[in-house]
Amino acid sequence: MIENSKLQINEKDHLVIGGCDCVELAREFGTPLYVMDESVIRENMRLYKNAMDKYYQGKGLVLYASKALCTMALCKIAQQEGLGLDVVSGGELYTAMKAGFPMEKVFFHGNNKTQAELETALDAGIGRIVVDNTHELKMLNALCEKKGMKAQISVRVKPGIDAHTHDFVKTGQIDSKFGVALENGEVFEFAQQCKMLSHVELVGLHCHIGSQIFDLDPFIETAKVMLGLIADLKERYGIIITELNLGGGFGIKYTKADDPVEYDRYIEAVSQTVKQVCEEKGIQQPFMLMEPGRSIVAPAGITLYTVGSVKEIKDVRTYVAIDGGMFDNPRYALYQSKYSFVMANKMSAPVSQKVTVAGKCCESGDLIGKDVELPEVEAGDIMAVLATGAYNYSMSMNYNRNTRPPIILVNQGKAKVIVKGETYEDIIRNDVIPEEL
Ligand code: LLP
Repeated sequence: MIENSKLQINEKDHLVIGGCDCVELAREFGTPLYVMDESVIRENMRLYKNAMDKYYQGKGLVLYASKALCTMALCKIAQQEGLGLDVVSGGELYTAMKAGFPMEKVFFHGNNKTQAELETALDAGIGRIVVDNTHELKMLNALCEKKGMKAQISVRVKPGIDAHTHDFVKTGQIDSKFGVALENGEVFEFAQQCKMLSHVELVGLHCHIGSQIFDLDPFIETAKVMLGLIADLKERYGIIITELNLGGGFGIKYTKADDPVEYDRYIEAVSQTVKQVCEEKGIQQPFMLMEPGRSIVAPAGITLYTVGSVKEIKDVRTYVAIDGGMFDNPRYALYQSKYSFVMANKMSAPVSQKVTVAGKCCESGDLIGKDVELPEVEAGDIMAVLATGAYNYSMSMNYNRNTRPPIILVNQGKAKVIVKGETYEDIIRNDVIPEEL
């Protein structure tokens, strides 16, 4: 069990989340089932917001990176907790709009936004478009001209910081599809172009160095580099940058091997650096933005599955098959991500074996974990995979025409559906058999 989580065990030896017995949840809502603890989500949001108030005197805004888990209910919670929102596609933007999220607090990211997405964002009165490249810059300028407006923009910068994390989730280095590089001067060309265009104004810098990062140092280094850039832009081109967005990427505890720092320490460390460097360089302290995603929702979520076949291959391995798999959690298949597993219906049964947890997709790589330590398990047992609140539902799919599970929000013993489970009708909803077929 993850030590610092809010999970409990009741007198029936069942796992309890948000005051709800997981075995009963599985019975009531079926499995697979995503379960999110509302109080943990809110606590994490508050931790960041309070840190911004305390360490940076509130001269900033914490954006919830909705890619981690984007649903209308999550947007509502972020709004209630006073956070802004990071969206990265027309779909995430639409979700925020439909949830009634204040558009001025929405930041629109993405390395290849379409004209339609940009137009929707402008029409909605989006807070900030974070422009990724010069193609997008020109497209945006032309759109603004057509609409008779001038957009204040940020630019996504690759600061050249190497964050120690999985290659697929590293983004700050020059060889990345995101943003314009500092090392080779691309960012200066971009800034000069902005000056020549009359319907955009460059007011902000953004960067995001990667995800699931445990050290404070890369964030401190990044802040220094970005402030150096702010000073350079002022000196060389008279461009005054008033907004600095340092992205997200703060690591969380998936297993005992992970040792994250308290979330508010990121904001504390970065705030100190920003204040100090601004003083040294004689520049104004920028309005600061941070964009945590995973660290807000991952620890709040678990996924419940029912065990089916247990296949013991003598002298090879034991496969424990669950009724979900890579279609609801593709992270092992993609990144060999490690999780903590417990048996929700027999929490104190002693660990007795190492197994491979397999999904039900027609794909050998459809695993949720290898060398997973479990007690004896049998068909019908309820397995809980912990810390699945981020990048599980948001990366889920319908491979093999599996239906996406529902998400329920639990709090003080009550459970509410925030995303309905898909039905087979949903699966065929967009299928068409042309008449002439
Ligand atoms: N801001 C930007 C611009 C980002 O690209 C990301 C994540 C975040 C904020 C939030 O980062 P977080 O705090 O959640 O680490 N699918 C991968 C993670 C991809 C992260 C993409 N960008 C995974 O499952 O590990």
